[in-house]
Amino acid sequence: VCYDPGHVGSRADAEALDARDPLAFARARFTLPDDVIYLDGNSLGALPAGVRLALVDAVDRQWGRDLVGSWNANGWWTLPRRVGDRVGALVGAAPGQVICGDSTSVQLFQALTAAARLRPDRRVLVTDAANFPTDQYLADAVARVLGLTVRRVTPSELVVDADTAVVALSAVDYRTGELWDVRTITGATHDAGALVVWDLCHAAGALPFDLDGLGADAAVGCTYKYLNGGPGSPAWLYLPYRHHATANLPLTGWQGHANPFGLARTYEPADGVERARIGTPPVLSMLALEAALDVWDGVDLADVRAKSLSLSDLLIARADALHDHGISVVTPRDHRRRGSQVSLRHEKAYELCQALIAHGVVGDFRAPDLLRLGLTPLYLRHVDVWDAMDTLTTILETAAYEDSMYRRTEAATVT
Ligand SMILES: Cc1ncc(COP(=O)(O)O)c(C=O)c1O
Repeated sequence: VCYDPGHVGSRADAEALDARDPLAFARARFTLPDDVIYLDGNSLGALPAGVRLALVDAVDRQWGRDLVGSWNANGWWTLPRRVGDRVGALVGAAPGQVICGDSTSVQLFQALTAAARLRPDRRVLVTDAANFPTDQYLADAVARVLGLTVRRVTPSELVVDADTAVVALSAVDYRTGELWDVRTITGATHDAGALVVWDLCHAAGALPFDLDGLGADAAVGCTYKYLNGGPGSPAWLYLPYRHHATANLPLTGWQGHANPFGLARTYEPADGVERARIGTPPVLSMLALEAALDVWDGVDLADVRAKSLSLSDLLIARADALHDHGISVVTPRDHRRRGSQVSLRHEKAYELCQALIAHGVVGDFRAPDLLRLGLTPLYLRHVDVWDAMDTLTTILETAAYEDSMYRRTEAATVT
């Protein structure tokens, strides 16, 4: 696959690209509705076909019959580390550095606090002024607890000074889909003696990432987007080997204890990444996630990246043709700066999004004026992008989105 950027072509061209797609086999690994083109896998990934039976087994056999013995017999106890290693393989982390559990928000609290405590003489925590709200709120919360100051920046204009303890950024901007220059940012942060924490919510499973090679000090991410773990599936924390002995994690739950069943009165952290465990994990969700990760078997992330860029190039080329209808492309055209979504600006983006959904194309809206279209190479084809953009074109040409049924009434939009 490789779409020629700027070339609009025809549906037959899209079909030809799909015919030689090295990832074509992966679509059958998902259960997708026939009448929907799903461009929202950057919010909630589609259902991997193996998850249903894995959950039936988890409920009927493991919980129903084996009961509490499942902690050992069915490997529930080792699940956070086992699933962590599988996620780690997708983000460039060697085994033993990723723990699965809790939410991204909780893991941000863990990572930011531990990182700041490794630079006790520095007072500043840097985050992106446009970061996802929870990243900003948790940066503020950690700063309050540790008596730090939060400095908000734009990642491309990052300045790290001698008082900066931690730089905490998302690799991909959730609104615009811009991928930051993670290597330069990590290097500049380290050169100034600070630590870097990456949020990979919009990167894990969306593009290749090399946490170990980058020398990241910590990373977090969710698993319900490009990793298809399902609604509310647990997040993960990456803590590299070099910080295991010294990282002082704030949430000292019993499962992170050196001897969890010794029932000691005081906390002593486990060796290795096990110290990042907190309390009892959400076993059913984690088993669903474990099964969901099977869709990556035999998948080369370089193919995922190439196809993602090809899909987004096609989408951008078709969106450019809608300029006269008030559409502008917000996502960078430079491949090196693009995640796996395309955001389109339109003054009636909310109404457009609702009209698209009513016509079987599911994307999402981000206030105030962005239509966000996620590209998930494992289950999307070029023809899906082509057909979705046909639908958008018709909606714009006929002004169907002006229909009062698409007008904004709800207080909240779905995440
Ligand atoms: C960058 C980023 N961080 C965090 C989250 C969500 O955090 P949580 O999993 O705690 O709800 C999102 C959700 O979209 C996100 O985009």
